[in-house]
Amino acid sequence: GALPSLADLPKLEQKDRYKVGFSQMESNNPWRIAETKSFKDTAESCNWDLISTDAAGSAAKQVADVDSMIAQGIDVLFLPPREEKPLIPAVKKAKAAGIPTFLVDRSVDPNAAKAGEDFVAFLGSDFVDQGQRAAEWLIENFDGDKGVIVELEGTTGSSPANDRKKGFDDRILQDDRFEIVASQSGDFARDLGRQVMETLLQAHPDVNVVYAHNDEMAIGAIQALELAGRKPGDDITIVSIDGTRDALQAIIDGKMGVTVESSPFFGPLACEVMNRYAAGEEIEPWVQVQDRIFTADNAADHIDEAY
Ligand code: AHR
Repeated sequence: GALPSLADLPKLEQKDRYKVGFSQMESNNPWRIAETKSFKDTAESCNWDLISTDAAGSAAKQVADVDSMIAQGIDVLFLPPREEKPLIPAVKKAKAAGIPTFLVDRSVDPNAAKAGEDFVAFLGSDFVDQGQRAAEWLIENFDGDKGVIVELEGTTGSSPANDRKKGFDDRILQDDRFEIVASQSGDFARDLGRQVMETLLQAHPDVNVVYAHNDEMAIGAIQALELAGRKPGDDITIVSIDGTRDALQAIIDGKMGVTVESSPFFGPLACEVMNRYAAGEEIEPWVQVQDRIFTADNAADHIDEAY
């Protein structure tokens, strides 16, 4: 077939005000709430009439939400796809309706939809790198002979769960002190993280490291461990990703070792990239967000700006 070209992407007119769609996937954790707030805060400064929806944890509802935004005539769509595959039809439908789409924070299966072709660009972190950096912190800071790891995975089929697992597992298994004895989804949620940790702790009482794909599950795991009489930060090392307020507090309290940052503050970046696109600039397929790392060395310096 013909080679795809950038010219195939829907254009964005330069206007004084834009009707902007933001399709949030769920609002059950501080990260999601901070991301939605960042879009709402940006609406005023970026001259957006913002339509914001909440799919309440259902990819099917997120597809329907995008449908309804298309019907309402949005100029541009910002979409964090809950999972990598189910949102692909929504991305293609927006393009067919002439609406430029930017994926934010999570991506879709690159074999089924591509930046610069099916959507304009992906704005977000390098999740593989986040997992690698969590592993590297552990390799440098773990002082036991044998690291017995339980991994709490994010939402099954989501890009951060896939990539954070790959980055961490590949890196940690290069060091033969470490073994991953169990890896199970806690759906990025605190409650489920607690429940899964409870179960895995019974099956693997010798666990001495927990790697959680996000802070909410890490906090849930800490609760389960403490209830079982374990001492997080003392007899078990917790490593995680995000940088929420509760995680920074857990680091300050000595219960968590590290959290690799994954910023939810996408509003200003979305505004900037959208305006560049409207001005006719070619947008890089991956507008990459740079992440910091929070440990006992700096957590106290950042807790006031945390969410
Ligand atoms: O897509 C980013 C991830 O989604 C965050 O790490 C997590 O907390 C959120 O739900």
